[in-house]
Order: sequence, then C-alpha cells, then structure tokens
Amino acid sequence: MSNYETIQVEQRGAATLVTLNRPQALNALNSQILSELLDAMKAFDTDPSQGCAVITGSEKAFAAGADIKEMQAQGFADMYGHDFFAGWDVFTRTRKPIIAAVSGYALGGGCELAMMCDFILAGDNAKFGQPEIKLAVSPGMGGSQRLTRAVGKAKAMEMCLTGRMMDAAEAERAGLVSRILPAAELVEEAVKTAQAIAAMAPLAVLANKEMVNAAFETSLAQGVAFERRLFHALFGTADQKEGMTAFVEKRPGNWTGK
Ligand code: CAA
Repeated sequence: MSNYETIQVEQRGAATLVTLNRPQALNALNSQILSELLDAMKAFDTDPSQGCAVITGSEKAFAAGADIKEMQAQGFADMYGHDFFAGWDVFTRTRKPIIAAVSGYALGGGCELAMMCDFILAGDNAKFGQPEIKLAVSPGMGGSQRLTRAVGKAKAMEMCLTGRMMDAAEAERAGLVSRILPAAELVEEAVKTAQAIAAMAPLAVLANKEMVNAAFETSLAQGVAFERRLFHALFGTADQKEGMTAFVEKRPGNWTGK
C-alpha cells in the first residue's frame, strides 16, 4: 500500500475500501486528494485480486466540496488554462465498479464525486447538495449533468439555483441513492456489497457496468444493441459455461475470470 496523506486504502478480501481523510476540512477535495485518489483507483483497477471498491468519508462528511481555499485566488486563465477538474474524468474511466458510501455532507464536488461512482449507498444522516451558487460559481465536476440525469430537471434545477440540500430520504425517493442504511452500519454494509460484487464472474461485472453506463450516452436502440452484443460476447467466456453448469448442478460457480 502506498503512503497517502489524504486518503486511507484498505483491502478487505476482494473489496478495496478507500476513506477520504482530511477531517480538518470536512474532506474538501483539493489537488492532493485528487492525485492520491487517482493513484489508488488505478492500483485498484489493475489489481487482479480486487473486484469492487467503496469510497467513503467520515460520519460527518463524505466531502464538503472542492477545496474553496485552494480555488479562492484562482482566475479564469488558471482554471481554463489548466482545465481545472478535468483530472476527475480519469476517475470515471475506472472499469471495475465503485460504490460511494455517503454519510453526512456530500456537497458540491462531494456530491459530484459520489455521482461519479457507480451507485450510492446513503447513511440515514446523508445530505446532498450543489451549493456552489452561494459562492457565485456553479458545479464544475459534472454535477449539473449527473444530478439532472439522476433526479430529473425540477429537483436538479432547484438544487443548483438555491443550494438546497436533499436529505437521505428525499435522495432515495428521487433515485439518487440505491439504499439508505443506518449511518453506523453504512461502511460495513457497503464493504459487504462490494465483496458480493467482487465474488461475481469478473468479466460479467465489467460488462454489466459498461452496459448500464451506456444508457447515459446512447439512444435506446443503440443501447439495447450494445447490451445484446456484450451479452453475446459473454458466451465466449469460460465463466459463462461454468456459471450455467454450476446452476444446473446446484453448486456455486467457481470463476477463472476467463
Ligand atoms: N473547502 C475548503 N474548506 C472547507 C470546505 C470546502 N469546501 N468545507 C468545509 N471546509 C472547512 C471549513 O473552512 C472549516 O475549516 P476551519 O476550521 O479552518 O475554518 C472546516 O472545514 C469545518 O467546516 P465548518 O466550520 O464550516 O463546519 P460546519 O459544521 O459549521 O459546516 C458545512 C459544515 C455546512 C458543510 C460547511 O462547512 C460548508 O458550507 N462548506 C462548504 C460547502 C460548499 O460550498 N461546497 C461547494 C464547494 S465549491 C465546489 O465544490 C465546486 C465544484 O463544483 C466542484
């Protein structure tokens, strides 16, 4: 394991648990956290012993946004010239699944980071928001697009224009999160979920993630055709033979990842 300062990385069997760790700034996302997180996610994605990751924060804050103190003095030329936040796109190219386990505040970039993950499990104390407008700016890590796709225009527009936060119950009703858990059990439950995913046939996991994500980038007809081709492709894997044989023989599958 590398020597990170702003995150902690732990392998729990085949699940990688990444904990954002800048408590003094409520896990505000600065350049260091970005580069450490990208490094950790690259290591996770290329480690054959790991099948699914969980990203979490503290009980008080998943992440309270991009680091305002780091951005405060920047001008247009700095931000545009360096394409500030573009690095987060690398995060979204992780091929294995990532679960966000959100307790407390997920605001601005924190909400955006959670939405870059494949799904969100929320603690019952979670609060989601895009309050950038109060700083006279806007979402910059995809929030206006991913929130709108997740909860629809009405709620996304209201949240971006007013900075209003959504609690866990509203977020679940709106489809932003897949499940709500008691905050005290959130991380353990998220790790168990990640371990369950990691125990599936690895190529099927990649394919399922890829095809659900295609729904955001394609027409229905293109998405359905893409799904069918990937479904067909899975019949070229040894694990498909094993999975269906194991079902018929009433035993668990024993995957080779081939
Ligand atoms: N950036 C930098 N520091 C932050 C931070 C942020 N986003 N959020 C909190 N902190 C720091 C505070 O400055 C404070 O540090 P000091 O003790 O040195 O003053 C420390 O974390 C604790 O914060 P508070 O004292 O404010 O804690 P609180 O419990 O009173 O309030 C909060 C919690 C409501 C989340 C409040 O901290 C807050 O409103 N934070 C900012 C939220 C925000 O505006 N996020 C959007 C950022 S911009 C962005 O994300 C752009 C984008 O699209 C990517």
